[in-house]
Amino acid sequence: MNFLSRIFGKQSQQQKEDTIFSSSPLEVLGERQVLTDAPYVLPKDTQEISRLDFQHFLLRQAFQSNYLSPITQPKDILDVGAGTGRWADEMAQVFPQAFVTGCDLVEQTTDKSFKQPNYRFVEADVLKGLPFRDRSFDFVHQRLLFLAIPAHSWPSELLELVRVARPGGWIELVESEIQARNAGPATQRMGQWIIEVSKRRGIDSSQVPNLGTYLNNAGLQNVVTRSVTVPMGQWGGRVGSMMAANINSAYQAMKPLITSQLGISPEEYEKNILLQHQEWEELHPTSVFYAAYGQRPH
Ligand SMILES: C[S@@+](CC[C@H](N)C(=O)[O-])C[C@H]1O[C@@H](n2cnc3c(N)ncnc32)[C@H](O)[C@@H]1O
Repeated sequence: MNFLSRIFGKQSQQQKEDTIFSSSPLEVLGERQVLTDAPYVLPKDTQEISRLDFQHFLLRQAFQSNYLSPITQPKDILDVGAGTGRWADEMAQVFPQAFVTGCDLVEQTTDKSFKQPNYRFVEADVLKGLPFRDRSFDFVHQRLLFLAIPAHSWPSELLELVRVARPGGWIELVESEIQARNAGPATQRMGQWIIEVSKRRGIDSSQVPNLGTYLNNAGLQNVVTRSVTVPMGQWGGRVGSMMAANINSAYQAMKPLITSQLGISPEEYEKNILLQHQEWEELHPTSVFYAAYGQRPH
C-alpha cells in the first residue's frame, strides 16, 4: 500500500453503497456520482466528502488559519459552496455568538454529529442567486469554486456576494491555480487535461491570481491578496504529503470525466499519475493558493 492509499485507506463497501440525495439531478459516471446540470467538474459522493474534509484540514494547516479577513465579532457568517460544512462548523465553534449559514447545491456530509447548534445548511445555487436578503451577513466566505463558476459568471456572482454582505462586512475568496510551479511533463499534462475539461464548461481558472481585482471591480474597499505556496510530495514534509494525497484523490475524482471527454484511456491516465509521483520527489513542484478579501463600503 503506498502512502496515498495509507492516508485515504480503501473505500469500505458501505461507503461505496452510500448515495448522496439531493434535489439537484445526479448521475453515475464511471462509479462516481456527478451533478448533471451544473458546470461543477468534481463528483458529489462519499469519496469526495472524505477528500473535501481532508483538504479542509490541509488548507487550515497551510494558511495557519480558517480566515484572513480582520473580522472581530461577526453576528452572521455565510459560506458559499460549503461542501461538507467543516469550515462553517469550525467557524460556528470559534464564534459561538455568531450564526453560521452554509449553502451549497447539495448538503454533503456523512457526519451529522459535528454540526454546531449555531450552524444551518441552506440549499442554494449561487449562479441563480442566493436566497438571502440584502445586507444579511458580516462575513461572506467562498472557497474553491473555481471549478464551478464559468468565467462570464464571476462578475455577477461576486455582486451577489456583495449584495448579501452588510456595509462594513468582509468578503473572502480562496482559490488555487491548476498548473503547479516547477512541474514536470506528466504533472503539466494532467493540469492541461483539467483545464481542457473545465474550458468545455466555460471555466477559466487562469483568472485565479486576479481575485483581488475582481473584488475591487465588485466595489469592495481595503482589498488584500495573499498567496500561499504549498509543496507537492513527501519531500515537502507533512503539508507536502497531505497535498499529494489530496490532489491524487482529486485526480481519481476527475478520472471518469477526463477519460470519457478527452478520449484518454484509463490505463494512460493511471500511468500519468504514477509518473507524476516520481516527478514530485525529483522536481519538488509547488501549488499556489490565493486568498483575497475586501470590505463592503459603509
Ligand atoms: C471544491 S468544493 C469546496 C467546498 C468547500 N468550500 C471547501 O473549501 O471545503 C466546491 C463546492 O462548491 C459547490 N458548488 C458548485 N457549484 C455551486 C453553485 N452553483 N452554487 C453553490 N454551490 C456550488 C459544490 O457542490 C462543492 O460542494
